[in-house]
Amino acid sequence: MTETINIAVFPVAGFGTRFLPVTKASPKEMLPVVDKPLIQYAVEEAYAAGIRTMVFVTGRNKWSITEHYDVAYELENELEQRGKDEFLKIVREIKPGDMQVVYIRQELALGLGHAVLCARPIVRDRPFAVLLADDLLYNDGKPVMQQMVEVYNKHQQGVLGVQEVPQEHTKRYGIITEGARINEQVCTVEAIVEKPDPADAPSREAVIGRYILPGQIMGILADTKPGAGGEIQLTDAIEALVKEKTLLAYRYEGTRYDCGDKLGYLQANVEMGLRHPELGEGFAEYLAQR
Ligand code: G1P
Repeated sequence: MTETINIAVFPVAGFGTRFLPVTKASPKEMLPVVDKPLIQYAVEEAYAAGIRTMVFVTGRNKWSITEHYDVAYELENELEQRGKDEFLKIVREIKPGDMQVVYIRQELALGLGHAVLCARPIVRDRPFAVLLADDLLYNDGKPVMQQMVEVYNKHQQGVLGVQEVPQEHTKRYGIITEGARINEQVCTVEAIVEKPDPADAPSREAVIGRYILPGQIMGILADTKPGAGGEIQLTDAIEALVKEKTLLAYRYEGTRYDCGDKLGYLQANVEMGLRHPELGEGFAEYLAQR
């Protein structure tokens, strides 16, 4: 039986320590890139891939994410009364009518694997996507999750989004060992290891914050012990999974901004600002003059 991907999990409970002080009271997922919060880019990417159930695994201090995806009745009413249709449209487009949002509370920050496991009551045994909002992926044609869903649909196997990184950066990512190459962009995953030292890294193919996983991963996560950094790692569960089931790595088409890092975040703002339909031209002029 073929299954479609209709659920996306967004782990949003992290402290955002690297962005202090701004993340002391505000979630890092609500940091704006130009005029939209990071979480909205990720949700829009999932929606464009046909996904309609968005599961936020949330924690303390994250109420503004919930507000962002709620109906802002007073605001909408005010905009309607004043005939500000353009703004009303912007507000209403955040959550299209056919999109369902589910919130699950991760009470303890035990790691990415634990966050994903928290979504088990919703996901059950179905295949699902995971999107990490601090990886902002830009493609002016087909959004990356849509590309990955197409790979999934074709092969009916889980898919990890990967990109080649410099050797000295392997310590920041899950790094895969390539198995059989299917085509230039797709190969099977032989093994995966979380954040290896450059000297020990099996390759430079790094997992970025986009995954399509079989529901089976949930049972594995439930048995996964803390790994790197003392956290329950999604990577460790994937390593156990690939011993049982074929998983694919997909070199996506697009540009990634690491918005979990202050420099990457600034780069995202500059480049998305330059691409912005209303601001781009003026912003480019400003940058050229200074
Ligand atoms: C997480 C994962 C890592 C992955 C990375 C992608 O790490 O644990 O395997 O490569 O996301 O952004 P984090 O960036 O949360 O430390």
